[in-house]
Amino acid sequence: LFAGEAEFTAAAPALGALPPMEGVEIAFAGRSNVGKSSLVNALTGRNTLARTSHTPGRTQQLNFFRIGGRLMLVDMPGYGYAAVEKAKVEAWTQLIHAYLKGRSNLARVYVLIDSRHGLKSIDTDLLDGLDKAAVSYQIVLTKGDALKKSEIERRIAGIQAALAKRPAAYPEVLLTSSRDDRGVAELRASIARLLQE
Ligand code: GTP
Ligand code: MG
Repeated sequence: LFAGEAEFTAAAPALGALPPMEGVEIAFAGRSNVGKSSLVNALTGRNTLARTSHTPGRTQQLNFFRIGGRLMLVDMPGYGYAAVEKAKVEAWTQLIHAYLKGRSNLARVYVLIDSRHGLKSIDTDLLDGLDKAAVSYQIVLTKGDALKKSEIERRIAGIQAALAKRPAAYPEVLLTSSRDDRGVAELRASIARLLQE
């Protein structure tokens, strides 16, 4: 699936500008700077497909990437970062929530969490919305290269406990790194399974 072509197909600054629904969509959501765009690049093996940056607020629209015949990856703007102008972040957050709740071909949202920081209240706000709207999601920890093994195990256990009572959460938590590629093959396999459902 990921060995084939990946191409940028559309950027949507607002709900009214979404591309038509085709095939199965998978979205990457999370705080600004958590590593969403980097993970899209790691998944596709294309370092410059999605634009990344050291400073938060790089991705400002919903960016759609077609993979093979019937899969669309959606790289979203980040939410909740103080370094970005408040009004902008609020507008993005509204767009993110509205898109996530209203897209019928959205098979799963991968909610990215920085493995060093864990779940913050701004993240649980999103999870609350997804649970309420019954949109299936899975937690993906990013930047796993920056943590010791013992810290990783503790972090995963803590998040799994926090997910236990969330109806739309997929119970497995994936640990990834776009820097050393750990967990990337597992994430690809997880996405490929969604296409078979
Ligand atoms: P916004 O578009 O602003 O919301 O950010 P984003 O979530 O798309 O993050 P992006 O992929 O642009 O990466 C943000 C920063 O984190 C960059 O400096 C990346 O180099 C760094 N980064 C991303 N993935 C990893 C990783 O796996 N390990 C480490 N150590 N750094 C990473
Ligand atoms: Mg980005």
